Parts: sequence; C-alpha cells; structure tokens
Amino acid sequence: MRKKKDTFLKDGQFSFLASNPFAGYNFLPPALKKIKNQAEGWHVPIVHDQLGLFLNFFLSLFQPKRILEIGGGIGYSTHWMAMAVPQAEFVVIDSNQDRCQKLKENFSQFSSPVSLVVHSGRAQEILPQLQQKFDFIFLDSTKKEYAELLPFLEKILVQKGWLVADNIGFQGRIQMDLSLVPVRFHLGVKNLRIFLEALGHSENWKSYFFSLADGIAVAQKIGG
Ligand SMILES: C[S@@+](CC[C@H](N)C(=O)[O-])C[C@H]1O[C@@H](n2cnc3c(N)ncnc32)[C@H](O)[C@@H]1O
Repeated sequence: MRKKKDTFLKDGQFSFLASNPFAGYNFLPPALKKIKNQAEGWHVPIVHDQLGLFLNFFLSLFQPKRILEIGGGIGYSTHWMAMAVPQAEFVVIDSNQDRCQKLKENFSQFSSPVSLVVHSGRAQEILPQLQQKFDFIFLDSTKKEYAELLPFLEKILVQKGWLVADNIGFQGRIQMDLSLVPVRFHLGVKNLRIFLEALGHSENWKSYFFSLADGIAVAQKIGG
C-alpha cells in the first residue's frame, strides 16, 4: 500500500487553495508563513494573501527584469513577487530602518538567489536619486502620499511597464461621501482620489481598478 502523504499539494500548487478563503493560510509555503508570523508578532502591516497571489500570478505572466517596491515592510509582498521571478533584480524602499534590516535578513534566509537592493528612507527623497528604470513597480507605502509619488514613478517606469498600487479602496472610504468619513482620514481620501483621477484620466496610463483585497490599481505606462 502507498504511504499516505500529509498533503496532496506539490510545491507550486498552493496558489489555487491559497485563494480559497477557507484554506488560504494553511497552504502558504513555509517561508511566507514564517514572514507572516513575524509580521503579526511585530504588528507590521502586510498585503492580503489575495494580493500576494495576484502579484505572483501577474509577474509570472509579465516576467519583469527589474522591480521596484515602495513600502517593502519586512518583505512579505517582496517574497510573493520573488517566488514568481527569482531571477529579477529587486529594489525596495522603506522609511523604517528596522523593517529594512528584517527584510534583508528574510531575503538572505528565504530567497538567496534574488538580487536585492534595499534603500532605507522616504521614497520622496530616494526616488529622484535612482538611476535605473523599472519594468514593474509595486506601491504600498502611505496612501495619502501616492499622488505626490506618481510623477516620479511615471519617470522611472519603462514604456509598457506596469504599476500596481495597494489599498486604493481605503477600507471603503474612497467611495463614501466625505461628510461620512472621520476627519482624520479626509486628507488620505482626498489625496487617493487625486491619485486615482491622475491614473484614470491621463493619456500616459491605461488603468484598471479592482476590488481585490482593499482595492488595487493596475496601470500600464503607455505614454510620457
Ligand atoms: C503596508 S506596509 C508595507 C507592507 C509590505 N508591502 C508587505 O506586504 O509586506 C507600508 C510600509 O511603507 C513604509 N512607508 C510609509 N511611508 C513611506 C515613505 N514615504 N517612503 C518609504 N516607505 C514608506 C512603512 O514604513 C511601512 O513599512
């Protein structure tokens, strides 16, 4: 009689079940599980697994060579992406020094073949200094700052390159009448709307908005 396996999934087949809300977490590969546990212990926000899965799927198709992440945290989303394109060059920016350190540690532990450069500092200061262009950008820093970062991103993204931005739904607030939104979120809502209008109405971008996780923008640079 064949020995019973403790799981019926092979490596790489977790994706389907990870998208199932009843199965998700248990089927994450061990490296992602470990980083997720660290994030929970340290109260570091991370992408929803649905978005991790989307990034993994999208990059598997698109196969970018150079990837920029703004707001890398301790590397949970970076790891989802690196699993899809382990040969790509990654540049990650985060304003929190401790998180940058942990992100590097997590990478050397879990994704050693990946080329990784981490910049610790505010994206506003680091982006103008970057010399390279990128095929793909994942934006996941402070939501109220997305609009001011967009012109920099447009400059350093290659033609036909893609930008994905997380949390554009702002937990449902983006569609609410501002009078119903608590005052402390007003600036965030106003600035996110400016960002979405800029992406949605510019001739330089072809944009799609999805209600996946907390809402994502997926935009391709087609001009500029
Ligand atoms: C939601 S967390 C990122 C989570 C990460 N993408 C993941 O899923 O593992 C947002 C991160 O953006 C960083 N951040 C916020 N504002 C920033 C800025 N202006 N420049 C660079 N990083 C910023 C924060 O330090 C924080 O770690």
